[in-house]
Amino acid sequence: PQQDRAQLSSLLEATTRAARYFREQLRYAPQAIEYLKQRGLTGEIAKAFGIGYAPDDWNGLRSAFGSDYDSPALLEAGLVIQNDAGRRYDRFRDRVMFPILDQRGNIIGFGGRVLGQGEPKYLNSPETPLFEKGRELYGLFQARQAIRESGVVVVTEGYMDVVALAQYGFGAAVATLGTATTATHIQKLFRQSEKVVFCFDGDKAGRKAARRALENSLDQLADDREVRFLFLPTEHDPDSFIRAEGLEAFHRAVHDAMPLSEFLLRELRGDLNLEIPEERAKLVHEAKALIPKISAPILQLQTIRLLADDAGMSSEEVSHALGIKPPPRN
Ligand code: UTP
Ligand code: MN
Ligand code: MN
Ligand code: MN
Ligand code: MN
Repeated sequence: PQQDRAQLSSLLEATTRAARYFREQLRYAPQAIEYLKQRGLTGEIAKAFGIGYAPDDWNGLRSAFGSDYDSPALLEAGLVIQNDAGRRYDRFRDRVMFPILDQRGNIIGFGGRVLGQGEPKYLNSPETPLFEKGRELYGLFQARQAIRESGVVVVTEGYMDVVALAQYGFGAAVATLGTATTATHIQKLFRQSEKVVFCFDGDKAGRKAARRALENSLDQLADDREVRFLFLPTEHDPDSFIRAEGLEAFHRAVHDAMPLSEFLLRELRGDLNLEIPEERAKLVHEAKALIPKISAPILQLQTIRLLADDAGMSSEEVSHALGIKPPPRN
């Protein structure tokens, strides 16, 4: 543990120093500044998120670290890569750099975007002793105050979504960074706010991410918690939406987002034909995988009632079919 603590602090020192180097390098990189401008970012917001630039250099970090470039910390922090011949080189080259902070503001990793086209579009730090992807939410450190003030947290997919929403005045947004929303993410979110709104991209991948978030939310629910889903038009993500439609439209969309219970019912219904008894049976059968997991007893009853209406059954019959004990009747 003593040793772990020492390792963590040497990794933190490395990421912090690297972030400072990337920020400085942005000043000497007109093409990166031009890229950010063309994406509509102001210098002010770039500063607020500590955005920087990793130069097109195989050993750029050596100029920041000197002989420490060869220390274990850079390797363990995922900042350099060592090839089979033992030679080290920078992981991030010619990319716009987004530092990823933990809740206390420590820099635990980076995401680096290519300027324009290229693969991968975003290169991220690997999992390190500092950075566990399934736990971290990009932007949470910057968003905490806005979340507290607005009573809601909006969960997006990406770096640019968080930064653009903040620039337009919607500060209460975080991102899962391309990984699926985990139960740990959701626990963390509910520690900040009783209301969580998932707002993924309007494309097919975004809708799939919403489905996963639904499944992973069910056992984190409570009757004083609320989860909603904001579905954007197919062509939009939160970044492009707020740029096209503005802050007021985004506020309205958050306010009008679909309640979890409604999304759940829609997912269950799929394209079943509920005129047919077999398909109504299938509806209830499919619900067995979801409704029993709802950890909010009153919401669970409410959802059963919605399902019962669709299935043409009583709530008691549906509860029984789902293996849920109905509440006692006076
Ligand atoms: P998107 O493909 O939706 O990208 O991926 P984006 O955030 O809209 O990016 P821009 O607007 O083109 O710059 C959503 C998120 O998934 C992760 C990143 O966290 C990204 O923000 N991702 C995506 C990666 O980690 N690597 C990739 O190559 C692509
Ligand atoms: Mn996407
Ligand atoms: Mn409460
Ligand atoms: Mn985007
Ligand atoms: Mn996107």
